[in-house]
Amino acid sequence: MNLKILEKIDSTNDYLKEKIDKKNWEIIMAKEQTAGKGRRGKVWNSNKGGAWFSFCFEGDKYLSKNEYGKIPLIAGLAVAKVLKGIEKLNYEIKWPNDIYVESKKLAGILLEKSGDFFIVGIGININNIDFGEFENIAISLNKISNKIYNIEGIIKQIVLKFKEEYFRFLRGEWKDILLEIKEIDYLKNKEIEVIFDNKVIRGKVIEINNNAELCIEKNNKIYKIKSGEIKIIKNT
Ligand code: BTN
Repeated sequence: MNLKILEKIDSTNDYLKEKIDKKNWEIIMAKEQTAGKGRRGKVWNSNKGGAWFSFCFEGDKYLSKNEYGKIPLIAGLAVAKVLKGIEKLNYEIKWPNDIYVESKKLAGILLEKSGDFFIVGIGININNIDFGEFENIAISLNKISNKIYNIEGIIKQIVLKFKEEYFRFLRGEWKDILLEIKEIDYLKNKEIEVIFDNKVIRGKVIEINNNAELCIEKNNKIYKIKSGEIKIIKNT
């Protein structure tokens, strides 16, 4: 496992995507990103103090396309497990790719594909405290504990943990992994709104199912969501 640290770069995901001689499990971390990317073309604020990193691995040839949605959830579980060992907080996975603490966003995951490689980009608010316009919806470890954390150490642990979970997955242990994800499912029982098949569906979250889809109930009908932008209407 090789961790490369850059002072400043546009986006660690783009760096790895464009790199021609990618190696399995290589990690790029940047102290600052000038064009950090979130999902759905959103900007990801990447000032100094956060863990902004990407790593890549060659996808297993037996991994079918409809299983790709499991990867960000596995990454989320790895992030939650490692952070729990560092700071005992209540980390929750907000389907499909966020980590929440105290009902605020602590981390986000962006999965991309480049040839046969998966690029997993992870942004975690750690020592950074300035969230600008996102002040009310974002949080960092430092904001909660006032401590300064070793970012490189956290990143290495997360990639190692991801490898461990991913190999469990390849060995056929998805059901057990999913049970662990469900234990920290942030959206469960919440009333949400999601854009699905060009329609807005409003309903109650039942679970994340075996195919990593979010199941929502509306008028006794279950809708299975593969991807979508979630808006929470009511916490229950
Ligand atoms: C999201 O919540 O929408 C995903 C955010 C992912 C941010 C990380 S920071 C490191 C990597 N490089 C990027 O440009 N994005 C990801």
